[in-house]
Amino acid sequence: MKEFIQLLPKAELHLHIEGSLEPELMFKLAERNRVEIPYGTVADVKEAYKFTNLQSFLDIYYAGASVLINKDDFYDLTYEYILKCVEDNVIHTEIFFDPQTHTHRGVAFDVVISGIKEALDDAKEKFGITSNIIMCFLRHLSQEDAFKTLEQSLPYKDIIIGVGLDSSELGNPPKKFEDVYNKAREEGFRLVAHAGEEGDVSYIETALDLLNIERIDHGVQAIHSQSLMQRLKDEQIPLTVCPNSNIELKVFETYKDHNIKYLLDYGLNVTVNSDDPAYFKGYMNKNFLNLYEHLDLSKDDIVTLVKNSFRSSFISDELKESYI
Ligand code: HPA
Ligand code: ZN
Repeated sequence: MKEFIQLLPKAELHLHIEGSLEPELMFKLAERNRVEIPYGTVADVKEAYKFTNLQSFLDIYYAGASVLINKDDFYDLTYEYILKCVEDNVIHTEIFFDPQTHTHRGVAFDVVISGIKEALDDAKEKFGITSNIIMCFLRHLSQEDAFKTLEQSLPYKDIIIGVGLDSSELGNPPKKFEDVYNKAREEGFRLVAHAGEEGDVSYIETALDLLNIERIDHGVQAIHSQSLMQRLKDEQIPLTVCPNSNIELKVFETYKDHNIKYLLDYGLNVTVNSDDPAYFKGYMNKNFLNLYEHLDLSKDDIVTLVKNSFRSSFISDELKESYI
C-alpha cells in the first residue's frame, strides 16, 4: 500500500506554506537573519510541538514564522516544500500564505509573494509541478485589516488566484468577513475559507451562504447536521480535510475516531491534505498512509480521494482532464 500511495500522482489543496517550515530551516534562517528563537536544538522544537487545540498550535506557528524576513527566506521555504512534493509525487499544489503574519512585522507584501512565486516558477520548470497561490486573511484580526490586505494584493491579482480565511475559528465567524469577501469576489478572486475545523455547523453554513465560498477547508464538523450533509452531497462542495492536523490538534482524539471514511462513504467530495506538515508529523503520503493503517481505506477509496482533489482544484478544465 505504501508503494501504491507513493506511485499515485496527487494534488494538494490545503497547505499553509508557513506550516511547512521544518525546524532545521527555522534554525538556519534564525541564524542567517539574527532572529532569536526560544529553542536550543531541533529536539527542543519537536518537544514544543505538543498541541491541545488549534490556538495552542497557532501561538507556536506564528512565533516560528518570525524567522522569515527576506525574499530568499520565502523562496527557500517554498522550495523545500516543493522538494517534499517531488518526494511524495504531488504534481499539483494550491498553497496558502498569510500576508498579515508578515506585513505586521514590517515585511513587505512584495517580499513574501515574490519569494514564493519564484520558487513555484522553478518548481514548474524543474519538476513540472503546477500550482496556485491563495492568500488567507487572519480571522482573529479585524475585517478592516483584511480590507487593507486585499488592497495590497491587487497588483498581484494575476499571481494570487483566490482568498481564504484561517487562524482562530471560534469567536471569529464568517459573518465578520462578509464585506471583504464580497469585494474579493468583485475583484475576481476564487473564494475558500476554513470552516468547521473547531467551529460548529453554523460556521460552515454561513461560510457558504454569506461568503459564497467554493471549497470548505476542513469542514469535518458537518457531520453534526443531517441537512448540511445532504447539501454538501447534492452540491458536491469540496472539503479539504487534513487528517494528521485533526489528530494533532485534538479535533478527533484518535485516528480511529476520524470521520473521513464516513464522509466519503456518504458521498461527499472529500480530499486529503497536509495543512501544516512540518508541525503535524508528515506530508501527503504520511496522511494517506495513516488513513489506510487506522481507518482501513481501500485502494478504491484512495483513488477517489485523489481524483476529488484534481476535480476540486482551481486548474483549467483542460489541465484537469489531463490529470484525471
Ligand atoms: N486552521 C486555522 N488556521 C490555520 C491552520 C488551521 O488548520 N493552519 C494554519 N493556520
Ligand atoms: Zn489550514
